[in-house]
Amino acid sequence: MLRKSFFFLFTAFILVACDAKQTEQIESSDSQQTSNVVVETIMNRRSIRSYKPEQIKPEELDVILKCGINAPSARNRQPWEVRVIQSKETLSKLNTDYINYTKIQNPELADRVPDYDVLFGAPTFILIAGDTTEMYAHNDCGMLVQNMLLAAESMQIGSCVLGGIIRYINSPQGQSFRDSLLLPKNYSLFIGVVLGYKAEKPDAKPRNASKVQIIS
Ligand SMILES: Cc1cc2nc3c(=O)[nH]c(=O)nc-3n(C[C@H](O)[C@H](O)[C@H](O)COP(=O)(O)O)c2cc1C
Repeated sequence: MLRKSFFFLFTAFILVACDAKQTEQIESSDSQQTSNVVVETIMNRRSIRSYKPEQIKPEELDVILKCGINAPSARNRQPWEVRVIQSKETLSKLNTDYINYTKIQNPELADRVPDYDVLFGAPTFILIAGDTTEMYAHNDCGMLVQNMLLAAESMQIGSCVLGGIIRYINSPQGQSFRDSLLLPKNYSLFIGVVLGYKAEKPDAKPRNASKVQIIS
């Protein structure tokens, strides 16, 4: 009887020990997935449209720019030019000029929100121009931008891609600002990105998962 009880207890112990080991493995592989910092950074990024006034640190900007130019590009042609504007006066003038331009283009918007800030109060504005003679320049510049957004998010720095203001800068009225960027011949402004410390915490925008289909 004693031998039977011992055998039963021993078997039960082995079973519990094996089960515990299995549970531990599942938990550790799960936690490995959820603690993947790249995935977390991608999922936590949002377009930020309200910023604190203080400037980001130069070393943070450095990392963001470095990550940008480490993006892949077709044949490694790096067909981008990146310009950083941090002067408060320049950003404020750009905003005023943009508002005046918009009022002329769309008179119906003329008395919309008087203190509208197209840069959302962000202290840093990065402009990205692409080489129009390079077939994949738009893709390459998009990758550069996404690298910058994710690098910024990884340091808790907010960002927002800006397309609207680029239309103004590329218009005849935006010529003097455009000239100040000293872009090489054949380069055209593609997109802008504002950066700064976040003053809001927006929810994630919905995504349409049905856009993805696995074929066979
Ligand atoms: C090419 C491009 C242009 C954009 N232009 C603007 C813009 O001019 N103003 C703005 O507030 N957001 C702009 N956005 C941000 C999008 O509205 C935003 O990415 C989208 O609504 C999804 O939200 P999320 O970035 O928070 O995930 C732009 C985004 C991209 C990719």
